Amino acid sequence: MSEIPTLEDLEQRLGGLSGKRILVRTDFNVPLDDSSGETVITDDFRIRAALPTIEWLTDRDAQVVTASHLGRPKGSPDPAFSMEPVRERLHELAPGVELMENLRFDPGETSNSPEFVASLIEGVDGYVNDAFGASHRAHASIVGPPQHVPSAMGRLLQREVEVLLGLRNSPKRPFVAVLGGAKISDKLGVVEALLEVVDSLVIGGAMCFTFFAARGGSIGDSLFEPDQVETCARILDAHGSKIHLPSDIIGVDADGNVATWGTDLPDGAKGFDIGPGSAAEFSDVLMEARTVFWNGPMGMFEDDRFAAGTRTVAEAMAATKAFTVVGGGDSAAALAQFGLDDDVDHVSTGGGASLELLENGDLPGLAALRGDDT
Ligand code: 3PG
Repeated sequence: MSEIPTLEDLEQRLGGLSGKRILVRTDFNVPLDDSSGETVITDDFRIRAALPTIEWLTDRDAQVVTASHLGRPKGSPDPAFSMEPVRERLHELAPGVELMENLRFDPGETSNSPEFVASLIEGVDGYVNDAFGASHRAHASIVGPPQHVPSAMGRLLQREVEVLLGLRNSPKRPFVAVLGGAKISDKLGVVEALLEVVDSLVIGGAMCFTFFAARGGSIGDSLFEPDQVETCARILDAHGSKIHLPSDIIGVDADGNVATWGTDLPDGAKGFDIGPGSAAEFSDVLMEARTVFWNGPMGMFEDDRFAAGTRTVAEAMAATKAFTVVGGGDSAAALAQFGLDDDVDHVSTGGGASLELLENGDLPGLAALRGDDT
């Protein structure tokens, strides 16, 4: 696999950066809240995470133009997905840096049209991909520019790749992965890839009910995926000794009361969190690990009644001496909710991208920077 050019390589290739116009693809797909009538950014982590690259370029007098998608508009301008709130925040953090309008206002972004790529690189001397969270998408702004102009990875992308490929290729052992969230079908690929490299896989969240069903247990009315039961049974057969499933569950009984059960739930019961026994067991596994990767909450942590399992795992992530990595998305939001986001070694800016990199060891955006055919 050839090397991915760095910012230093780009500077050398362009004979210096002063006055050069550099297109920086960032992932400014930030959460927004418009319930007050005014659109506000509820978490600017992804904007702050791009600053080291932006500042490295502006310190060398490059003229930086950033570009990102925001949400999933349908290929035409939609005021609900305007970049304006992001632009305002960016200008507070990095005055003078330009930000293009939402890339997905043009259908050519997601279809990777050559015309759209041409419009992106017009007047541009070099391209930097710092949009780790979008690098699993073979979209125009991710895979197009490196085919035409000198290109490099930004600092954020570089760090994400180092950390996540480090987990995949040379983790300090014991290496423990903790996966949660609602659906096993969303994470099947990464579950199978992780089982090849981890020493233990801890499973919480509603996805555990599909595994319980595969063991023949009763799960009441809990969420599960009937069409994945066979796959989960196969995974348990092949790797059961590495897999830790919850030993107790908290949820709501048929009368709507919060209750705790073992792994057999009564009729009408719905599980929404791992129980205290499981949380303590999972926490012990994390305390003994030397590397931990966590993606997906243990329960419905947005509801205080069902937040304890996720909170205990988040606290163990913060307390363990292991090298700790959190995949983006809900688990990063949970850590932030508990005020523990500064207590882990690496919080990835990419949810889907981090899982895909762990699963495949590569991403379309990285292949494009290496100059591989896409
Ligand atoms: C993300 O939020 O995971 C990235 O910005 C990618 O967004 P997408 O799933 O809409 O492509």
